[in-house]
Amino acid sequence: MTTNIAVLVSGRGSNLQSVIDNIENGYIQNAAIKVVISDVEDTYALERARNHGISAIFIDPSSFRNKLAFEQEILRTLEEYEIGLVLLAGYMRIVGREIISAYANRIINIHPALLPSFKGLHGQQQAFDYGVKISGCTVHFVDEGMDTGPIILQKCVPVLEGDTADSLSARILEQEHKILPEAVKLFVEGKLKVEGRIVVRT
Ligand code: GRF
Repeated sequence: MTTNIAVLVSGRGSNLQSVIDNIENGYIQNAAIKVVISDVEDTYALERARNHGISAIFIDPSSFRNKLAFEQEILRTLEEYEIGLVLLAGYMRIVGREIISAYANRIINIHPALLPSFKGLHGQQQAFDYGVKISGCTVHFVDEGMDTGPIILQKCVPVLEGDTADSLSARILEQEHKILPEAVKLFVEGKLKVEGRIVVRT
C-alpha cells in the first residue's frame, strides 16, 4: 500500500527535494508526495514540487479570519489528497491542535539542532552562539509544543575551528538531507512505534 505524503513548506525546500529524490531513486518505496503546501507565495519549494509533477498549493494565511480557519483549510486539503503522513520541511509556523490531533504521530519535523537544545528559530545560530562543540539535527514527531515531540533520529555535526554559523549550517543541512528521508522510510515501512515520548524501532 502506498503512503500518501504532504509536505508543508515556507521556503527554499531543500529537505523537500531530498525526500523527492529518495522516492525517485527507490530508497523510499511505497510512498508518494501528493501535495506540497506553502504558507508563502512563490517559494522555491513550490517550484521544486511542480518540476516533479507534484501538486503545489499556496494557502494564504492572511485570507482567513484566524489561525483556526487557515488550519481547517490545510486539514481539508490533507483529507482531499488522502494524506497519511505530513512532513514539516522548513515550515515556519506552529501547527495547531486540530491538525495535530487529526494526524497524531503522523506529522514529522526536521530541526537543525540536537533537541531538546536550541528549539525554535535559527537552531544552528543559537548553537553556534552558545559555543557548543557538537551540534546536529533532529527528526521528530510533532506534538503541541514547539520542537518537543518524540525523537525519531538525530545526527551529530561537530563544530570546527574557524566555523561560522553559515558553514556549520551547511554541514548540518547535509545531514538533514539524510535523516529526513531515513525517517520517512522507517515510517512508511511501519517500523516506528511511539511509546510515551520514546520512539521504538520495530
Ligand atoms: C532547515 O534547516 C530545517 O531544519 C528547518 O528549516 C530549514 C529548511 O530548509 N526546519 P529547506 O527549506 O528544507 O531548504
